[in-house]
Amino acid sequence: MLKVTSLTVKYGSIVALKNVSVHIKKGEFVALIGSNGAGKTTLLNAIYGLAVFEGDVVFKDKNLSNVASHKRIEMGLSLVPEGRRVFPNMTVLENLELGGFKKDKQFINRKIDEVVELFPVLKERFRQLAGMLSGGEQQMLAIARALISDPELLLMDEPSMGLAPMVIKEVYEKLSILKKNGLTIFLVEQNAMAALKYADRGYVLENGKIVLQGKSNELINDNEIKRAYLGKEYKEKWER
Ligand SMILES: Nc1ncnc2c1ncn2[C@@H]1O[C@H](COP(=O)(O)OP(=O)(O)O)[C@@H](O)[C@H]1O
Ligand SMILES: [Mg+2]
Repeated sequence: MLKVTSLTVKYGSIVALKNVSVHIKKGEFVALIGSNGAGKTTLLNAIYGLAVFEGDVVFKDKNLSNVASHKRIEMGLSLVPEGRRVFPNMTVLENLELGGFKKDKQFINRKIDEVVELFPVLKERFRQLAGMLSGGEQQMLAIARALISDPELLLMDEPSMGLAPMVIKEVYEKLSILKKNGLTIFLVEQNAMAALKYADRGYVLENGKIVLQGKSNELINDNEIKRAYLGKEYKEKWER
């Protein structure tokens, strides 16, 4: 569904990504892990049309090089940005309506009904300002908003950021349901343990380069990964 080949992104003299190649097949849940500054957000931005790059990004057999960001949304890409970026002074419902980029009202309302079935807490809070929601609820809202445009591939930037382990689990369980319902998911995370527990496959990004890839369970058991990303708390939190 998505094939990124030899992607290079530079910010002036800084090379944020160097010859990065990743692919995601239809129906897969793929995670890319990497520490702060590795280039994760830059990769999603390039895929989404928010960064200038060298190399190829092919989505559903179409090269995206000259495709504007809003066209990518129409083609079936949707991004849940880092830090959620809900509009705090708008209501939950208004935030959701904004997700239906360019679609007609009837379509948007139908999608809203559909997504709040997965996130019932949002329905209870339709009229509340998004800024009043907890971090976990805001993340659910950001995901729900990204689903209103009816994407085929959902891109997510650090969904676990700033959330407590219980809430992270809740978010990832929603993602698992979405995957089961046929959505293809590509997410980037510093939180390797959460991401690899739920994803089918993973990539490891270090200083703008892919250094390792494999099935999630292989990566979780990789000693190098354990040392670099999983740390001491891994067992306590995730192997129970
Ligand atoms: N707009 C920008 N201008 C200059 N440098 C940037 C910009 N955005 C990111 N960078 C640099 O690119 C590298 C990768 O950043 P980023 O993609 O945000 O990493 P991550 O999301 O993995 O934390 C970092 O060294 C960061 O400082
Ligand atoms: Mg980032």
